[in-house]
Amino acid sequence: MVNALSGGARAVARCDELGRAPFSDTPGALWRGYLTPAHRAALDRVAAWMHEAGMATRIDPAINLIGRYEGTAEGPPLIIASHIDSVRDAGFYDGPLGVMLGIECVAALYAEGRRMPFAIEVIAFGDEEGSRFPAAMLTSKALAGTLDAVPAMADDAGTSLARALAMFGSTPERMIEARHPGALAYLEAHIEQGPVLEAEGLALGVVTGIAAQVRFAAVIKGLAGHAGTSSMALRRDALAGAAEMVLAIERIAREAGGDCVATVGRLEALPGAANVIPGEVRFTIDVRSGAEARRDDAAEAMLDAIRSIADRRDLEFHVERVHTLPASPCDPRLMDLLEASLVEAGHAPRRLVSGAGHDAMVMAALAPAAMLFLRCRGGISHNPGEHVDPADAEAALAVMLGFIAKLGETCA
Ligand code: GLV
Ligand code: MN
Ligand code: MN
Repeated sequence: MVNALSGGARAVARCDELGRAPFSDTPGALWRGYLTPAHRAALDRVAAWMHEAGMATRIDPAINLIGRYEGTAEGPPLIIASHIDSVRDAGFYDGPLGVMLGIECVAALYAEGRRMPFAIEVIAFGDEEGSRFPAAMLTSKALAGTLDAVPAMADDAGTSLARALAMFGSTPERMIEARHPGALAYLEAHIEQGPVLEAEGLALGVVTGIAAQVRFAAVIKGLAGHAGTSSMALRRDALAGAAEMVLAIERIAREAGGDCVATVGRLEALPGAANVIPGEVRFTIDVRSGAEARRDDAAEAMLDAIRSIADRRDLEFHVERVHTLPASPCDPRLMDLLEASLVEAGHAPRRLVSGAGHDAMVMAALAPAAMLFLRCRGGISHNPGEHVDPADAEAALAVMLGFIAKLGETCA
């Protein structure tokens, strides 16, 4: 009998361990960026846990960590994965919990000396959040084979992706070689990052699909000048213009209604001094909706608003699309398998859509994909207050093991 109880608690404890130095690049808080020293430390630690669970490991040219547990037959593997990078000032469970639960699934099989009729690969993706370079899901895209070319890009400190990859022994050109030959199925467990499951008193839910997303990087240019001598009428203040743009973006998303959401999550005013009129502002725009047309109409209206505000205020602007992903439905057959396992484990069936993006939406290009959501306290995520009950992780582990067994039956 599989000891699923200790595995779920251990998965949570390991996420807690990864929340501190040396697994964070920020003292006193968690930020684990792609290709940073904290990423390196996490790769080593997670690889050691994979070995303990009976897996052989390798790191691909996109710097994804892949643990492999052989099956009794040849053929494409089941991939269980999530990401180990984080947002800045992150919680501990967004991403790593899915990887840790994948390791626990294999650890449980290994402890029983059990092999499935397919190999299992547990993957720790390196760049889901896009919290270092101006792109997101680069490494799952490389693995899924949807990354045709890697555009030149640099982080805030001016370090190029090429240089960062070189420190890990790879190159942007080689990232494409991470392409995976194909998988039987893809399974990702993740905290819900929203309040629905908790509100309904449910530990777990089956994801039906993931909302479409698009991200832009905007640069607004005015004229830097003396805060004391430039009259209000003659200023070309890039920050005042950007403030108007941010409010227009918020208004347009509200007016779009439904599940359309837009966020300006990052804004930088330059040169950044109390007595200098801001001459340049850079900000990000993230727009999402389950319906691609609603997302695109809203994004178009936002770009129009930026254009007209910039014209009226005599500002220059440049807006670049840095990331686009279509809405991604989960695989109906795998959803049924996951739900059957959920019900067998004594949970009420609950299906829900994901507003958050996940590597699963990229991996759907490689294999049929399924996602299991775990309740998180207050629906809080992208915040150090993220919390998962270890009992919910135990429950998730049992459901994932049930799913693996059912998938095995379909191969018999
Ligand atoms: C990832 O967390 C995202 O939804 O942006
Ligand atoms: Mn996230
Ligand atoms: Mn995540």
